[in-house]
Amino acid sequence: MTATSPFPLIETDRLLLAPLADSDSEEVLALFSDSRVLEFYDMDVFTRKEEALAWIQKHRMRFDVGDGIRWAIRYKGQRPLLGTCGFNNLAGQGHSGEIGYEISPANWGNGVATEAVRAIIDWAFLNGFNHPLRRIVARIMLGNEASARLLKKVGFQDEGIMKRAGHWKGASHDLRIFTLPSNGGNGGAQPVNC
Ligand SMILES: CC(C)(COP(=O)(O)OP(=O)(O)OC[C@H]1O[C@@H](n2cnc3c(N)ncnc32)[C@H](O)[C@@H]1OP(=O)(O)O)[C@@H](O)C(=O)NCCC(=O)NCCS
Repeated sequence: MTATSPFPLIETDRLLLAPLADSDSEEVLALFSDSRVLEFYDMDVFTRKEEALAWIQKHRMRFDVGDGIRWAIRYKGQRPLLGTCGFNNLAGQGHSGEIGYEISPANWGNGVATEAVRAIIDWAFLNGFNHPLRRIVARIMLGNEASARLLKKVGFQDEGIMKRAGHWKGASHDLRIFTLPSNGGNGGAQPVNC
């Protein structure tokens, strides 16, 4: 698959979602050096700006090869980075993707994630990577109540628990899977090639 180009800018009532730039590395470092943000992630806290830069560049490369997309989230006309969101793990020839997001703790509880996530879901079901996604998946660690509540609020269905599906930070973790099929199309069914 190739990239959807150019990188889609998304505006909501309050927010502008735009590509992450290398110049965001200080703010990405601040985001991912906060253990509250990474409590439920398969990532260790960042301690160096180079780690933040590598993370930004990894996501840019995923976009360039059509394998994912990550937006920087900001209030319109304002510089501070509120967080990031996007899609990874495109599957089924890009008809299914996994959503991810994180907001800096100073901005939690202000509806930023809800607004950003709703906007990227709309983008994914309308446009997507060369064609609209038909299904969005989220996998979250048990105990991540904020994320579970956000997903249910924007319409995801709780599909249950995958036992020991995650392996990081020296332990196995049960993951809860949520899915959101698009309303249009055939709900994620793929043409069968036989
Ligand atoms: C999950 C996260 C993105 C939510 O961001 P946010 O901007 O605070 O979310 P919103 O303000 O849009 O709130 C969304 C819903 O979650 C609820 N919520 C927020 N924090 C909560 C918490 N600590 N516990 C329970 N519910 C919570 C809100 O009340 C809201 O639901 P409601 O409108 O029904 O009351 C944020 O907590 C975060 O960045 N967490 C760390 C990173 C992470 O775990 N990402 C997800 C990985 S799967």
